[in-house]
Amino acid sequence: MLAGPNPGVEAATHSQPAWVVLAYLIAGVCFILALRRLSSPETSRRGNRLGMVGMAIAVVITLAVHDIASLLEISVAIAIGAVIGLTTARRIQMTAMPQLVAAFHSLVGLAAVLVGAAAFLNPDAFGILGDEGIHTVSRVEMALGVAIGAITFSGSVIAFLKLNGNMSGAPILLPGRHVLNIATLAGILGLVAYFTLDQSPWVFWTVTALSFVIGFLLIIPIGGADMPVVVSMLNSYSGWAAAAMGFTLGNSAMIITGALVGSSGAILSYIMCRAMNRSFISVIAGGFGGDAAASGGAAVINRPYRRGSAEDAAFLMKQAEQVIIVPGYGMAVAQAQHVLREMGDLLKKEGVRVKYAIHPVAGRMPGHMNVLLAEANVPYDEVFELEDINSEFAQTDVAFVIGANDVTNPAAKTDKSSPIFGMPILDVEKARTVLFVKRSMGGAGYAGVDNELFYRDNTMMLLADAKKMVEEIVKALA
Ligand code: TAP
Repeated sequence: MLAGPNPGVEAATHSQPAWVVLAYLIAGVCFILALRRLSSPETSRRGNRLGMVGMAIAVVITLAVHDIASLLEISVAIAIGAVIGLTTARRIQMTAMPQLVAAFHSLVGLAAVLVGAAAFLNPDAFGILGDEGIHTVSRVEMALGVAIGAITFSGSVIAFLKLNGNMSGAPILLPGRHVLNIATLAGILGLVAYFTLDQSPWVFWTVTALSFVIGFLLIIPIGGADMPVVVSMLNSYSGWAAAAMGFTLGNSAMIITGALVGSSGAILSYIMCRAMNRSFISVIAGGFGGDAAASGGAAVINRPYRRGSAEDAAFLMKQAEQVIIVPGYGMAVAQAQHVLREMGDLLKKEGVRVKYAIHPVAGRMPGHMNVLLAEANVPYDEVFELEDINSEFAQTDVAFVIGANDVTNPAAKTDKSSPIFGMPILDVEKARTVLFVKRSMGGAGYAGVDNELFYRDNTMMLLADAKKMVEEIVKALA
């Protein structure tokens, strides 16, 4: 495509000296290696650093070879962005990460719209103006980039509002929404095609406006429980929007980066759908996960259960040969990861084998538990994914479930009417004893459903804030 029929892009890229193309290529390689390293907690820090180096190369080269604005203006803009980014990164709670990501995606979408609009209003400056107006290929790239950017923007704003609790997490189901959505999408595609024949402003702005509307319409019917998939899907859209804009700007670094973000976001959405046993299409169609689910609505409980103390838990675990710790959202809320590692260390001193089992959607974002355990310096070789550890529960003395609920709920295997039916779960009930740390019998997990395991004979409930309970267990062990 770069060397193909688009003279504007050709002019923009081919006029670049070879060293610029090479530098962009190096930046692209940094991004690819960064993604590779981000796939394991052990290498993720190095991955992040490589990504930063790649981005620094791309930014410096772009500033050096384009006469875009004065260096002072650019520096002021970078300084403002850096201050906002640094302050947000320092202040943000781990539990608020999903909405932060949604907010950032909205900015990527908006940037794509603004770049597209700038290119439309001043095509000459972008090198995409021919004798008969904007080059045809550039029109398609520009219209698609703006459309995807606008969908990403309004969709991400709705995702942010729902995740942040400013808007109900319940699906909003408009009558005839499927017909409305399909008609709007068809309208957008028709207008993008028409834009190749007629570059009147009304066509461009109508595509933009309809895309803002469809982003809104697509996300409001999606309930809180499916929001993480939506956020990762919007991440993918924002990548494709950037890639489309990369073609318009003739910037190969942007095309590579956009395509990497677009495809990795799509793969992540697929992995999450599989882990929650939801088909991608049914997530997009929406309607799953009402208010009770999104807010962890209380379950009605009047059944007998066995309650234990920190001392009971310490005693049981000290006697064990193997303890598998299953962390979930409650551990993140309580910030219990550090004291949990201390507990693990004490148990190991007693000769107990300690392992951690991570469910792919434990917590509220992909890798949530891995990040927290890594922060607490839990050794990586003690941390196992669901498929690698599930068979071990049957030979384990104690499963220590801390702030996890849905990811252990056997209803996912047996109850067809359950909202989590079909989701693969950690088979904690197969352990000889299951210890459940949660604050009360009334609080349910994300899916808003009760967990049969709380009432089983081999379960002991440890009702307290996760951090406080583990601190007491540590005292009892020490
Ligand atoms: P949940 O099923 O949400 O259960 C959390 C448990 O933690 C609840 O039982 C809650 O009970 C307890 N809890 C909350 N605060 C606590 C505290 N301070 N101390 C002790 N316990 C506390 O969590 P999970 O098992 O990790 O499952 C994750 C769920 O979120 C799944 O349904 C998943 O589909 C969904 N989801 C996942 C993601 C990703 S990508 N990870 C994103 C969004 C949604 P109490 O209130 O009684 O304490």
